[in-house]
Amino acid sequence: MTVDSQMWNVPNRVLFGWGAAAETGRYADTLGVDRALLVTDKNIRAAGVLEPVLDSLSKHDVECEIFDGVDPDPTDRIVHEAARAYDEANADSILGVGGGSSIDTAKAASILATNDGDVLNYKGFGQVDSEPPTRIYLPTTAGTGSEVGHWTIVKDSETNIKEEIGDVSLLADLALIDPKLTTSAPTSVRATTGMDVLTHAVEAYVSIKAQSQTSALAIDAIEKVGENLRRAVEYRGDDRDAITAMAHASTQAGMAFNGAGLGAVHALAHQIGGLFDVPHGLVNAILLPYVMEYNLPQVPDKMVQIAEALGEDVDHSTPPRREGYKAIRATRELAADIRIPRTLAETQAEIDAIDRLAERSLNDGSLTGNPRKTDLRDMQGILTRAFDGEFEYETVL
Ligand SMILES: [Fe+2]
Repeated sequence: MTVDSQMWNVPNRVLFGWGAAAETGRYADTLGVDRALLVTDKNIRAAGVLEPVLDSLSKHDVECEIFDGVDPDPTDRIVHEAARAYDEANADSILGVGGGSSIDTAKAASILATNDGDVLNYKGFGQVDSEPPTRIYLPTTAGTGSEVGHWTIVKDSETNIKEEIGDVSLLADLALIDPKLTTSAPTSVRATTGMDVLTHAVEAYVSIKAQSQTSALAIDAIEKVGENLRRAVEYRGDDRDAITAMAHASTQAGMAFNGAGLGAVHALAHQIGGLFDVPHGLVNAILLPYVMEYNLPQVPDKMVQIAEALGEDVDHSTPPRREGYKAIRATRELAADIRIPRTLAETQAEIDAIDRLAERSLNDGSLTGNPRKTDLRDMQGILTRAFDGEFEYETVL
């Protein structure tokens, strides 16, 4: 007998607050941490972002070694380096501090702390045998939402394919979200990571795997991004509310897609990021409105709701198939206001690779949530429009 049920996993503890990084040591101590490996990148370290974390750890007599070798789009090699650092430090826990790359590296390295072999052997879902050590994640962007999810993305250094590794045991023992940490990110990073948040929320909201609780989080996150992302990008030390709202939106969208899954934006973005090193948030930001147009015929009512959440005036007497275009227009306007390019042609991605990208995207796990069924020609079509800058809404609205 098949039982119709759905799983939704969330972390054990989520601590949220401006300045909350100063509480890291207290909570690490409560979790029984004596000696941590902190996984991060050199920019975060140089920007002084680690200071409140390190001060707090030392105040509570928690020892800490730092591995700062994380690169954007971390490969299996980086993960193995981090795992070696964990062994050499004789650590009993892992702290991931940074953007999605640092937290994903921390998660993947935690697998190798208690499990043998190559990290890519654990790709897919639920392949981790032994429970990894205590895990604490602190995001410095808003963001990937990785701190509240059970997925990590590791790039295969042989094939350049971004592989997904998911396991309940990778969820944080503590996700510690301090919006203040995100203010150190450059303006352009705040813009692209903020659009990643919107992408998570929109893809989770229209996903065929959406659940009541994930949809509630997703639509609220969409509203917060619409109201706050422009101001958060312009932040110059004055608008704490906008930064805090974006950190909330990132957490909510992260939790939402951890239950509802993602869609064609991420399925394509993983391939473009893997082959051409276009930053994840940037490629999502560009692709999102094109994929929304592709999905509109399948989920017109939800697109109208997204339009409303993004602040559009919606006429409920007009067919949703038409009114839904306003969600795409609002997304495009937001992206343009924060200086996101209109097309993939303005990135390192190459138009000649469309066929290869489309073919690879069909095997990406994210695609399983997409509301409209896709085949190779559909993906080629989305990519072609995203290179050419062609939008239907501009001729309809
Ligand atoms: Fe993402």
